[in-house]
Amino acid sequence: MNTATGTGTILVTGGTGTLGRLVVRRLQDAGRKVRVLGRGRHEAADGIEFVTGDLATGEGIEAAVAGAEIVVHCAGSSKGDEVKARNLIQATSGAGVRHLVYISVVGADRIPVVSGVDRAMFGYFGAKRAAELAVADSGLPWTTLRATQFHDLSFMTVRQMAKLPLIPVPTGFRVQPVDADEVAARLVELALGAPAGLVPDMAGPRVYGMADLIRGYLKARRKHRPMVPVRMPGKAARAFRAGANLAPDRAVGHRTWERFLAEQLS
Ligand SMILES: NC(=O)c1ccc[n+]([C@@H]2O[C@H](COP(=O)([O-])OP(=O)(O)OC[C@H]3O[C@@H](n4cnc5c(N)ncnc54)[C@H](OP(=O)(O)O)[C@@H]3O)[C@@H](O)[C@H]2O)c1
Repeated sequence: MNTATGTGTILVTGGTGTLGRLVVRRLQDAGRKVRVLGRGRHEAADGIEFVTGDLATGEGIEAAVAGAEIVVHCAGSSKGDEVKARNLIQATSGAGVRHLVYISVVGADRIPVVSGVDRAMFGYFGAKRAAELAVADSGLPWTTLRATQFHDLSFMTVRQMAKLPLIPVPTGFRVQPVDADEVAARLVELALGAPAGLVPDMAGPRVYGMADLIRGYLKARRKHRPMVPVRMPGKAARAFRAGANLAPDRAVGHRTWERFLAEQLS
């Protein structure tokens, strides 16, 4: 029965991604019935039902939300998350969803995306903010959690940068990486609880200068690369330099970047 008995299907959009996979595993561990929405075709496996659909176009989404009691919206990409959220919400109309849970990013409300330069480099934050507003205005009971950058993304970024012969480092940029599985645990806790609106941010245990993060990676890989400071233009970059992407007072994550890095490189 799809009511407060807590046995109904939980749809995890983006359940094939870094965060979504961890959310799916934790929901299963909690004994919940899970359906995953993604663009690729997957056979049902390990008790997980897969539905193929594209949130950017809305194709296949109605079938994904049909009969879902809770929707945990983890699907996302560097562009167009506001469109994905709106298409998802539209499809939920009359579907009986009693809780929509959304993962956003710290700084979504503080990083102004106004000029072309802002949009080119930080359009992601503007899209996440628009998606947050769509969720809040959806008419569905909702919960939104903002998290800082996951260790996985920081790792991918520094690894890519370390391939360059000369590494450009944005002046004054800092990051506060957090463990994706810790975010997944919190998201599952929120999903299985009562709708709570915008909840306190979730950030990693320490703030790092971008240069320090790259230096740490290079040292661990025994690599040497010159770094060149680059001052990024625009209002969004200025907000970044002021720390709008950080939540030092919400450094609730436990697993450190150093531990994550050591495990990745071991
Ligand atoms: N990574 C971070 O540092 C970070 C920090 C804060 C918040 N977040 C947010 O957390 C969420 C998950 O991030 P992640 O790093 O786990 O992302 P990810 O590993 O890139 O996974 C993205 C997921 O979204 C799905 N997806 C993308 N476009 C889709 C579309 N048009 N239709 C349906 N599904 C689509 C992908 O599924 P298929 O490829 O199978 O279609 C995949 O499962 C995102 O909303 C992101 O903004 C991430």
